[in-house]
Amino acid sequence: MEKDRIILGIESSCDDTGAAIMKNGKILANVIADQKVHAKYGGVVPELASRAHQKNIVPTVQIALEEAGVKKEELSAIAYTKGPGLMGSLLVGTSFAKSMAMSLGIPSIGVDHMRGHIFSHFIDQDPPPAFPFLSLVVSGGHTQLVMVRGPHDMELIGKTLDDAAGEAFDKTAKMLGLPYPGGPIIDRKARSGTARFSFNKPRIEGLDMSFSGLKTSILYFLRDEKEKDPGFIEQHMDDICASVQSVITEILMEKLEKAIRIHRPQEIALAGGVAANSQIREAFEKMGKTMDIKTHIPPFKYCTDNAAMIAMVGDIDLGHGRVSSLDTVPITSQSIG
Ligand code: KG4
Ligand code: ZN
Repeated sequence: MEKDRIILGIESSCDDTGAAIMKNGKILANVIADQKVHAKYGGVVPELASRAHQKNIVPTVQIALEEAGVKKEELSAIAYTKGPGLMGSLLVGTSFAKSMAMSLGIPSIGVDHMRGHIFSHFIDQDPPPAFPFLSLVVSGGHTQLVMVRGPHDMELIGKTLDDAAGEAFDKTAKMLGLPYPGGPIIDRKARSGTARFSFNKPRIEGLDMSFSGLKTSILYFLRDEKEKDPGFIEQHMDDICASVQSVITEILMEKLEKAIRIHRPQEIALAGGVAANSQIREAFEKMGKTMDIKTHIPPFKYCTDNAAMIAMVGDIDLGHGRVSSLDTVPITSQSIG
């Protein structure tokens, strides 16, 4: 009888401490300890994030093992996020994973966080996307278009030149006086609003994107309207949210369509925290129908940062005999390229 392949995945790139257990390709536990501490600051405070990871990591891993009914001695390998992300946060997960792997005498696998988002489509999906597929990864830290030709063959074909799409949501929310992270709140409020305010869209050549000009355009719009009527934001909150969400969706969909026309993928896949957005999901499905191309969107719990996607990549890499050396150190910047 073949030995079970059991992977512990650990995610600590930003403000969520995650631990997941994957047994023979199936997720048995996917635990997330999110950090409420950042809400009042309107964004993630790196120093507070790493302290919270330090506090959460042992109990989160313990809960995942218990939920999965797996003993740590049964693990085949430990996969951890090696970056990109916040250095202090990454150091907690990386050091913990490598030490635990060393003490158990099993391999450790450093996983690229963005590869995690891309391969979130392979978790419990039957069938997963077929290669080559085009992945649109939209999160709080990244916005990129990646042609995925195989598990280890990826090409970055477009990216944001400044802010990520999630940042555009979160920074707008902050201007509107909403708590962090603002993306889900804008999504919710937009449902009762009408997109009747327009903002300038960036003009960027090729497949790259930009969201910082939009942020400035929103800032000036709100400043001018508040000068005329101090109660403008409160009175028009839902319409402002709907308008901002629409323009972000349009920017993403224009570049996606262009990428499909140039690279002719078999299928398209949407990933990252912003993939939870209802209008973006809808527009993505519509794009698939219009372009006659199959679409994939992972279940919500695998869209935002999670450790199941890290365990998934660990499982793929272990299957290809790709493990990391114990002197692997975290990387903070873009790695798919
Ligand atoms: O992937 P993720 O969990 O973390 C990063 O790697 O950044 O993405 C978090 C981002 C945040 O910017 C959050 O506001 C955004 O995803 N987000 C949303 C929604 N849910 C999460 N943005 C728009 N609409 C949503 N429903
Ligand atoms: Zn992420």
